[in-house]
Amino acid sequence: MDKMLVTGGLSLRGTVQTSGAKNAALPILFSTLLADGEHVFRNVPDLKDIESTAKLLESLGCETRREGDVFRVKVNKLKSIEAHYDLVRKMRASILCLGPILSKYGEAVVSMPGGCAIGTRPIDLHLEGMKALGAEITLKEGYVHAAAKRLVGGTILFETCTVGGTENVMMAATLASGKTILENAAKEPEIVDLAEYLIKMGAKISGHGTSIITIEGVDQLRPSEHTIMADRIEAGTLLIAGAITKGEVTVEKCRPQHLEALILKMREAGFKIETEKTAMTVFKASAWDAVDITTAPHPLFPTDLQAQFMALMSVANGTSVISETIFENRFMHVNELIRLGADITPKTRVAVVRGKPDGLTAAPVMATDLRASASLVLAGLVAKGETMVNRIYHLDRGYENLEAKLSSLGAKIRRSE
Ligand code: EPZ
Repeated sequence: MDKMLVTGGLSLRGTVQTSGAKNAALPILFSTLLADGEHVFRNVPDLKDIESTAKLLESLGCETRREGDVFRVKVNKLKSIEAHYDLVRKMRASILCLGPILSKYGEAVVSMPGGCAIGTRPIDLHLEGMKALGAEITLKEGYVHAAAKRLVGGTILFETCTVGGTENVMMAATLASGKTILENAAKEPEIVDLAEYLIKMGAKISGHGTSIITIEGVDQLRPSEHTIMADRIEAGTLLIAGAITKGEVTVEKCRPQHLEALILKMREAGFKIETEKTAMTVFKASAWDAVDITTAPHPLFPTDLQAQFMALMSVANGTSVISETIFENRFMHVNELIRLGADITPKTRVAVVRGKPDGLTAAPVMATDLRASASLVLAGLVAKGETMVNRIYHLDRGYENLEAKLSSLGAKIRRSE
């Protein structure tokens, strides 16, 4: 089923629950490589990227099992320390197995992940971090070969704020000897969730969630259990779905405090949004104003919600300037939104969106990456007629049953061949 058919013009109403966070589950699943035994997780979302991660862990000698809401990872002594290209190329985040394997086994061979639709996605900062902990790094035939008798703590200053780099080096540092200080560390909530699990395994970490993270190395970690945090990007996407359809939607099982930048911008656009500790509601607005956004590291506006917010701005009153500062090619959804009638002028890292309330009309469009596909579904919810979103498999990487969730709110949306 490669297409999604979305009928525009229906206002969404009701309550919907967020699933577990893909971008917390991925590093946490890779962190299990740091400790032999059985790790037990809850709220692991059922996504293609989780399947890819499970396959990679199994290729290393681990066992994974999903039983209802419980996801178990049994880590035995690895049968391999090599993460193969055919698995890594399917999911770039596989590079997050480098730190754990290197730190636990003293050697790791991991395929370079390569780029993706939204950018070249380099890993130089990951490798600089491993070198700063004493690792020998060589690149051979598309693979990273990393070796270190035992990693030694050190101070690492990330020249760019990197979520994956912070996660990879933080995991590696847990079993290094001595203290590691990460400066200019990323502050995303997913990093805090990972650190919380590492601490449950016996790691000594402080400062997670701030730009300076300190890790005191220990000799051994042990498996534990954890409930994955709610997916803030899915929660934001569902909130925008309620807003863009002039509906009233409550998103539960989420943490509004993780979405302050989005909520601030939606309120600035004129939406009434009420928040509680684990839920948020957007109320019906018959019209809203265009506002400017600039994506940046947490707690500023998340790049993973830029495409979805652009769909909302394409039917706003006025002109919105959207600046994408994180990835060099994250406007792949622009041409597809234009096919639906949006008036957008894309420049290098800035897109000027001239809002056209009720200005979108259904057309066949093509999903190019995970968040672009969400943006096109959102636009389809308001475009007159039935929008066909092709290559919808991109959506399945990061959204669990999105069409079921939107249908439960009154959307007319279904998959087709
Ligand atoms: C994580 O990717 C997320 N993925 C991305 O979500 C998210 O968009 C991104 O963080 C930014 O928030 C996961 O967590 C699995 P970065 P990551 O390292 O870690 C540059 C989604 O849609 N950089 O923070 O790969 C890089 O090119 C995905 O769920 C280097 O230059 O992102 C980018 O410009 C998409 N060298 C910037 O840093 C490096 O070694 C931020 O990238 C690493 C990164």
